[in-house]
Order: sequence, then structure tokens, then C-alpha cells
Amino acid sequence: MVDNDVYVEDGVVKQVGRNLIIPGGTRVIDARGKYVIPGGIDPHTHMQLEFMGTVSADDFYQGTKAALAGGTTMIIDFVIPKKGESLIEAYRSWREKADEKVCCDYALHVAVTWWSDRVKEEMEQLCKNDGVNSFKMFMAYKDTFMLRDHELYGVFDHCKQLGAIAQVHAENGDIIAENTKKLLARGVTGPEGHALSRPEDVESEAVNRACVIANQVSCPLYVVHVMSKSAGAMLASARNNGYKVYGETVAAALGTDGSNHRHASWRHAAGYVMSPPLRDDPTTPDALMEFLAKDILQVTGSDNCTFTASQKSLGQDNFSKIPNGVNGVEDRMSVIWEKGVHSGKMDPARFVAITSTNAAKIFNIYPRKGCISVGSDADIVIWDPNKTRIISAKTHHQAVDFNIFEGMECHGVPEYVIVNGRVCVDEGDLKAVQGHGNFIPTPVFPPYVYNMVKNREEEKVSNSVSRNNVENDIGGTAESKPSTPTPVHEPTVVASQAPEPRLTTPSSKGQRNLQDSTFSISGESPNGLHEQESVEMDDTAPRSCIRVKNPPGGQSSGSFW
Ligand code: URP
Ligand code: ZN
Ligand code: ZN
Repeated sequence: MVDNDVYVEDGVVKQVGRNLIIPGGTRVIDARGKYVIPGGIDPHTHMQLEFMGTVSADDFYQGTKAALAGGTTMIIDFVIPKKGESLIEAYRSWREKADEKVCCDYALHVAVTWWSDRVKEEMEQLCKNDGVNSFKMFMAYKDTFMLRDHELYGVFDHCKQLGAIAQVHAENGDIIAENTKKLLARGVTGPEGHALSRPEDVESEAVNRACVIANQVSCPLYVVHVMSKSAGAMLASARNNGYKVYGETVAAALGTDGSNHRHASWRHAAGYVMSPPLRDDPTTPDALMEFLAKDILQVTGSDNCTFTASQKSLGQDNFSKIPNGVNGVEDRMSVIWEKGVHSGKMDPARFVAITSTNAAKIFNIYPRKGCISVGSDADIVIWDPNKTRIISAKTHHQAVDFNIFEGMECHGVPEYVIVNGRVCVDEGDLKAVQGHGNFIPTPVFPPYVYNMVKNREEEKVSNSVSRNNVENDIGGTAESKPSTPTPVHEPTVVASQAPEPRLTTPSSKGQRNLQDSTFSISGESPNGLHEQESVEMDDTAPRSCIRVKNPPGGQSSGSFW
């Protein structure tokens, strides 16, 4: 952390340092006493998703507007094709829905909900032509989205060949289906039945299974919405064993818990229904935050998938029909600051890593996103750690009529939010513009992920035993068949195939310069500490290059990443 000024022009960071020479007439925003951080990246949203007989309430306009209000400048949404549907057609329809509406930048993951040679081919096309580098597979939602283990093996293997990130929703769909039948037969129909039907071990079993399957084919794995202590522990053990796995948890799991399923009001209880469920164990949110602080989990999303009271009431007689999903896209940053930084569990540097930088690295858009350095997109948040706000459905910007964090007081408020150089939150006032956001292609072979995969593959191949006298050993003649050493695996992924991390591809709209507005951010440096060039928010970088001037949550003077 350093004290620096930032100069932005044409939507891009042009200078970082002290005593910058800037053109006259440039707007100057004073950030003294605040943190200047990269805009939040929410890698898990479901805007206007057709799901469980309805469509999620936040569309790409309202959802991304709410994202901006909370300090998130980019989302990654999920294209979810129906079984049998073309992945490419589904992708196109998502682009059509989103392009016109988004107020902030966005990218897309694509779900693989069925498996065939055609799906395989389409995955390749999406990676080559459409800027997709991640695929989500469901181990739950039997009969709609769920894949079987042999299918997961095939998809993971293919992801690995493509240099893509395989993501899983880890829950055992067969067990959930059986538990649900039993609970309904016993007359348990209310929202509490949802959590009872999918206990923690149903999640942790699936996390373990997904890790084991991915490891067979050396495919890096990203587990979305880790919701329980036991699932987190399973990831910790997989990482200890050298598996290339990443874990994401969500604002809901960090900011609230499953006790709400037993609330006397049906609407309140149903408002908390999501999958995997919020856990009854009240120590879960703190434990998940500790996992984030210790790098057992790396990323936070929101899984924003909102449904109004009347939509939730589709399940009033049967918990398994309550549309699954909660809010979070607007409040994620504040909730994590409050529960993580303000509570003293992590420092602001780790906050930036888990809300922005790590997602940018994993999905290969770093350093365009996820840091403030010369050449980065000007997606910047000025975060005031001393301001507070109280979360409420009455004041939030989302389309939904309920907020799972209702009444929570949060220290830490985004005072300015800048997207591609445009000030979208200005002294706390939201000035979102429909269509201002760009689609951001995510290239395959993220070096952050795949460089290590190459090393592991090389290790495995060097461990293989090369024999050239097989026929002699088994009584055949050496001449009958020429023997060649057989590698244990297909040709390995080589890092040199990986594209440069910096994207040069223009966005679908072709232009990066969306605004004339330029500004610089000034901060005094009372102790004279400053760096000349960019400072990235990288918790893997040597700590010596990060200067923490003030303790976490404490007063700052234009502190900057
Ligand atoms: O309850 C949830 N998580 N709804 C959205 C769909 C999903 O599984 O991510
Ligand atoms: Zn999911
Ligand atoms: Zn989700």
C-alpha cells in the first residue's frame, strides 16, 4: 500500500506516481484519508436467469447498476443452456440480453449441462471465438443441469486441453433428490426442509469427488459458492495434496447464516433459500472468512440470483420448488469489508485480492482488471473506511423486494466508483448509464493457473517408466513389434502457448474510450513515502513492496493500490 496519485485519460490509467504533470482542466478528486482500490469483480452472478419456473428479478441493467452502487465494476455472469440446447446459441442470447443493458463491464462463464461431441466442439468454439475461458458443471439439480461423474471426467479433460477453467457447483444431486422425497413424505414442506435436504456432508462429499476427478486429468478446478466449513476443509486438504484447486465463497455465506430458514415468516425464511444452503452452524461465516484470510479460499462472489416474494411463493407448499437464490451483488464489498477488515480478520490488501485481483488473475483479465497500474482499465473505487451505511431493501438499488442483510451496519462505503474512466458513483450519488459496460473477453490458458499445471504435468511424465524390452519380458520377440515408450498422458500443455496476460483485443463494441472525462486523484504523503510506478494488489508479491502505513481499518491518507 502506498500513497500515490493516479491520472486517467480515455478510460485507461495513464500515470501513477507523485507530482504528476497533468493537463489543465482535469477534474481532481481528493482521496485523502480513503483507500483507492481496483473496482470489485464479482465472478458469480445470475441476472435475468430463467430458473425454476421463473426469471430472476435483477436484469442486466438493474443488477449492474446495483453492482456499481456497491463498488463492483465488473461481473461475470453464467450462460446456462438447457439440456440439449446449443451452448453457442445460449451464449449469443445472453450477449443479446446483456450488451444493451450493462452499466459495468462483464464477462461470461458457460455451463455445461449435457455432454456430447457437439458440446465438446462448441466449447472449443466458445474459447476460440467468443472470449469464454470457463465452464461451470453442476453436480446438483438432478434431471435439469446435473452431470454424472464420467461426464465430469470428460468435461474436465476437455477443459484442460482447451486451457479453460472448470468450475463446479458441488453438491450430491442424487442424495438431495432422495432426502427431498423423504422430507416431503413426512410433511416437511417449509423452507427449513431445503437445508435439511442438503446437509454439509452432501456438499463436502461433492467437493472431494470433484477434486479427485479433476486431478485424474490434471485439470485446474474452481469450486463456486463454498458454503460450509467441511467443504472448505476439503479444499484445504486438496490444496495440501498439491491439487490445483481454487475456492470461491459468497457474500451471503459471510454475512448471514441458515438460522433464517426457521424464521416465523414464510417469506423471510424463503428469502434465504439458496444452494448449497446457508448453514445452521453459526460459526460458519467467521470460519469462511478465516479460510479467505489464509488463502484456503481465494475469491468472493455474490451468486446474485434474486426472486421477489411472489416468485418465492412458487414453493409455498413444497420447499423444493422455492426458486433458489439471494441478493449480494450490491452489498458484497461492504459486507466483506465489515466482516473481514473492520473485524480485524484480514488487512485491506487481502480484501482487494479476494474481491478483485484474484478473480482477474484466474479468469485471465489481469492486469487489465484487478489492479491500478499504467495501462489498466480505469476501474477504480475510492473507499471510505470511516463512513457507515445500513443495508436495507428500502434503499438498495436491486429489483428485488427483500435483502438478506437487512439492518446490517457496514463500515466502508464506496464514495466514488469509476468505470472505464467514467465516474458512476460521484460522492455517493449513483450515475449509472445503461449500455456503458463492455463485454470483456477472457482468454484461455491463464498463466496464473496454467503455468503450474505445466510443471505438474512435466513431473508426472518424468515419473513414467520407459521400457523398451516389453516383448522380451512377456516372451515375445523384440522384432515382432517395435517398442516405443508410452507417455502416461496426452501431450502436455506448454506455458509458451499461453497468451500474454494483457488483453489487446478490443471489446465487442470496438472502443475503449467511452468518456471524455479525465481526472486525477491527489493525496498528500505526510511521511514522504511514495512509489514512482504502478503498485499492484498482489498478495503473492513479496510483502516488502507493499507498505502498510496504517493498521487495517485505520486512518489512511490517499492510500493506494
Ligand atoms: O441458489 C443458487 N445458488 N442459485 C443460483 C444457481 C446456482 O446454483 O448457482
Ligand atoms: Zn450453483
Ligand atoms: Zn450461482
